[in-house]
Amino acid sequence: MFLISLAALQRNTKILSDLKSAAGCHLVLALKGFSCWKTFGYIREDLDGCCASGLWEAMLAREHFQKHIITYSPAYCEAEIAELLEFTHHLDFNSLSQWYRFRDTIMKHPRFLSRELLCGLRINPQHSTGDTPLYDPCVAGSRLGITADQLIGADLTGLSGLHFHTLCEQNSDDLKSTLAAVDAKFGYLLRSPQFTYLNMGGGHWITKPFYDRERLVRLVKETKARYGVDVWLEPGEAIAIHTGVLRATVMDVFHSAGHNLVILDISATAHMPDVLEMPYRPDVYLVDHHKAEKDFLPSVTLPGEHYHLGGEAGLKKFTYRLGGPTCLAGDVTGDFSFPRELQVGDILCFDDMAHYTMVKTTMFNGVPHPPICLLHHDGSIETLREFHYEDFRDRLC
Ligand SMILES: Cc1ncc(COP(=O)(O)O)c(C=O)c1O
Repeated sequence: MFLISLAALQRNTKILSDLKSAAGCHLVLALKGFSCWKTFGYIREDLDGCCASGLWEAMLAREHFQKHIITYSPAYCEAEIAELLEFTHHLDFNSLSQWYRFRDTIMKHPRFLSRELLCGLRINPQHSTGDTPLYDPCVAGSRLGITADQLIGADLTGLSGLHFHTLCEQNSDDLKSTLAAVDAKFGYLLRSPQFTYLNMGGGHWITKPFYDRERLVRLVKETKARYGVDVWLEPGEAIAIHTGVLRATVMDVFHSAGHNLVILDISATAHMPDVLEMPYRPDVYLVDHHKAEKDFLPSVTLPGEHYHLGGEAGLKKFTYRLGGPTCLAGDVTGDFSFPRELQVGDILCFDDMAHYTMVKTTMFNGVPHPPICLLHHDGSIETLREFHYEDFRDRLC
């Protein structure tokens, strides 16, 4: 099961709520990172709304969050624009060609005329601060955002905002250097009274213990004072980090070609795709009822359970290759060692599986999708969603 801790989720949103009060900015949940909508009622008060990657996420925000909606997509079609005009509050465009294509329709719409709907452009400050090209919208040849040269002499009538998203799991020192690049290339627009908002995207690792939140507050305040704009932040990961685990059951243990192999009832490719795509090695814990290590614990723990953190291969007495039940040869989460032998029925707990994991799962190979559960403050577990054969069948045609 995916198990989300309500206490952990609210710990994060409280930090974010305090931050936005201190900085005087707006902060929304990026649905692409976490969209478990049955939890929204518990976090709605702390946040200003949602940011959506397109029409469907925007519809989810309208139906289940019911606050401010920011929509940005690399491209919209006519039918999507027609629907979005009825309810999104910010509509940000990725290119001038898209904006020009829809501008006349948008500027005639009553919600635009009453300024209930504001439109903006995603800019690309061409200032890379991350190490991974896959996650760098400023990489050479990026399709995400408009470079400064394209805006020189362009007709920007009808636009009110600029939007950048260039960070990924970063601290506020990288935001500082990004804001300097934005100022050098786009500051002249932000200083003009036409532009009333600056959206600083996501990628701010605000709820990590080492994140410098005071610097973020300073940067937001300086930005507001410099340009006289409203500042918006739209983190996803910071909202759901350290709030959820994926609990798996050992289905088989055997030895082959010099390796101890384990088949779990969950799959890297179907249920934790970033393990293969990013790629990364998650922390995994063996759940036990005695002799636990107390120093490390997964984000979500249950009363009466103890946890052994899986070590590097060979570090602890018994090493296993943890694999999933699909046909993909590479459906392997990694080699991990444990202080005791694994047996059929053992529970392994993969840490930090709420953000960018639950949103990406598939039913590849017809592998049963883990149920989604919520751990309440009183220790009770509520099943939010179970999946059945019909869910698998009905996705396919
Ligand atoms: C435009 C935009 N906004 C916000 C986010 C959320 O980023 P994060 O979850 O890293 O905070 C993303 C992530 O890709 C994004 O593309």
